[in-house]
Amino acid sequence: MKKIHCFIFLLLFLSLAVLTAQETPTPAYTDTYNKLMQRTGWWRYDRFGMFIHFGAYAVAARGEWVKSNEELSTEQYQQYVDAFNPVDFDAAAWAKTAKAAGMKYAVLTAKHHDGFCMFDSKLTDYKLSKQFNGRDLVREFLDAFRAEGLKVGLYYSIIDWHHPDYPNVGNHPQRNDKEYGKRNFNWDNYLKYMHGQVEELVRDYGKLDIMWFDYSFDEYSGEKWKAKELLEMVHKYQPDILVDNRLTINEGTKTGGRMISVYGDFETPEQGIPDEGLLDKYGNPIPWETCLTLNNNWGYYEADKNWKSPELIIHSLVNCVSKNGNLLLNVGPNARGMIPDESIRILKEVGRWMDKNSGSIYGCGASKLAKPDWGRYTQNGNILFAHWMYPTVGHINIKGIGEAGSVYLLSSGAELPKEKAWWGNNEQGNFFVNVNSPTYMTFELPDPHDTVVEIHLK
Ligand code: GLC
Repeated sequence: MKKIHCFIFLLLFLSLAVLTAQETPTPAYTDTYNKLMQRTGWWRYDRFGMFIHFGAYAVAARGEWVKSNEELSTEQYQQYVDAFNPVDFDAAAWAKTAKAAGMKYAVLTAKHHDGFCMFDSKLTDYKLSKQFNGRDLVREFLDAFRAEGLKVGLYYSIIDWHHPDYPNVGNHPQRNDKEYGKRNFNWDNYLKYMHGQVEELVRDYGKLDIMWFDYSFDEYSGEKWKAKELLEMVHKYQPDILVDNRLTINEGTKTGGRMISVYGDFETPEQGIPDEGLLDKYGNPIPWETCLTLNNNWGYYEADKNWKSPELIIHSLVNCVSKNGNLLLNVGPNARGMIPDESIRILKEVGRWMDKNSGSIYGCGASKLAKPDWGRYTQNGNILFAHWMYPTVGHINIKGIGEAGSVYLLSSGAELPKEKAWWGNNEQGNFFVNVNSPTYMTFELPDPHDTVVEIHLK
């Protein structure tokens, strides 16, 4: 072999070695990964939660970003704060709504970007309790949801458009206000305040299951927030709490593949569902949760009538679960504290479906089978759930599992007719199911949104 060939060969060999080395996680990574999967076990089982965006912005009724979108000063925004009086707020009613929809956990905004606190913080007067007969809305929320057996979480904005030491960076309402920009912003002072408020939440409100921080951008990410120190403190009071990934901007994807984060436990795709379940660069599924609004806004928006249909919500939930993900579905109560009627109507319908079909959601995840054209699969151990979402002519074809054991309609437990083959098709690994006999005929589906067929794998 010529020298040059030897050299090229060596180079190829070395790069291959480097590449394969990268594909193998270190024992330390595997250990962290396993612990993460253990810690998130209950959450990955539950799959479905309620997000609640509630604050003084409900008075403006143009979404929670109104202060930034309209570049309002704190003085201008004050009219909404003053008028905010959620007299109809009833945490128990909210909790019942969530539970009836089949949701297993809920996350409430304790403070959003506007900085107005829904909890009785000792570190500021900019809080609802001052004008709400001393009532601590966050505490009432936690008590009521826990009483319904739901897990509880708090959303806390690390961004603050009110605090005088928070600079007018990013989407700050005063980003174009030159005078405001001349102020002396004491970042350490803001961090002290922010860490202090988080400490109040994790120390004074009993067991919290989830902490949902929002959000990082540009260099305002990770250690800019002193995120490690913050997390250490959070875990000191709440060793089992789960934390989302927004204390940093998504680091993983930029550096040769997604990894589990040292700053949080789960990823948070917003207003969309990934094409495939999220994996780390070694191919391991990682915990993720899509957060989604029922119309097009998180906070109450009077004119936004773009409500998603209950069917789209059911399909989206199944979509997430079929990819090992969760769905955190938002409601934005109005200024009186009521969840909008339209949201209630959608959630009721979702709840009716969940009453009969939650077995195909809780504890379920992805199946190895490819997505069929009539719907999706979810799976729990050796039980495969065929979500028959779109009407087809005749039966559905379950491909790739060989022979099935018993097959039932999940909603009633009724056994369903199945066959090994149909006209001219004796391919191995196929079998056919219908909701009635003969299986090659077309019948009305029992559930117009998603008829779930429960298949016991042999
Ligand atoms: C975004 C928005 C915010 C909303 C959140 C929900 O980061 O800033 O208004 O609370 O996402 O995921």
